[in-house]
Amino acid sequence: MARAKRERPSLMDAEGTMAVMQIPGHDHQKPREVTLEEIRAVLGDCQLCPLGQTRTNLVFGVGNPHARVMFIGEGPGRNEDLQGEPFVGAAGQKLNSLLGLAGLRREDIYIANVIKCRPPSNRNPQPDEITACSPFLREQIRSIWPDVIVCLGNFATQFVLRTEMGVTKLRGQLYQTGHFTVMPTFHPAATIYHSDWLPLLENDMRMLGQWLADHPVQE
Ligand code: URA
Repeated sequence: MARAKRERPSLMDAEGTMAVMQIPGHDHQKPREVTLEEIRAVLGDCQLCPLGQTRTNLVFGVGNPHARVMFIGEGPGRNEDLQGEPFVGAAGQKLNSLLGLAGLRREDIYIANVIKCRPPSNRNPQPDEITACSPFLREQIRSIWPDVIVCLGNFATQFVLRTEMGVTKLRGQLYQTGHFTVMPTFHPAATIYHSDWLPLLENDMRMLGQWLADHPVQE
């Protein structure tokens, strides 16, 4: 018997709208209406998927709640799980060293992951885990309402751009999805093993810097 194709979790639906999660005190919230603290409170001691049982800390996200640029990674690794903060290990150090190419500092940006809890042995996030976690990421994006979303690696790229294509094919240019300008690029951790990808990631960061310079904030 043919299996029904499962709907892949994504930022936007086919009509280009973002699903809205019920947040106490809000009725169909608008961009920048809900605070990150309110979203974190809804997550609480989340047990919506089995990763709730194996994590040390839930890794919500960190950074400027009014960031123009939001970075999205895959999921917490060992250091992030221990410290409760995204991108604090080797991948985070790599990311920090790249931000300057875009004229950014760590305190300018917000960083979150597709999933908020570490998969055992750093395996890939599973579709059910992404499905359970994605409403929280959508609400973080709606709360921050950045101009640019930088997708680090395949999981973030496929979630945000609603595609099955890989980042290798998609990187090197910007995409528009609704309000957001989206830059898919390599995950910094991938460049540790594929050193030939580092100059490409560096070029993407320069492209981001150029876009920001060409689109100054409207007062
Ligand atoms: N890799 C990710 O995708 N996210 C982190 O927070 C750390 C490493």
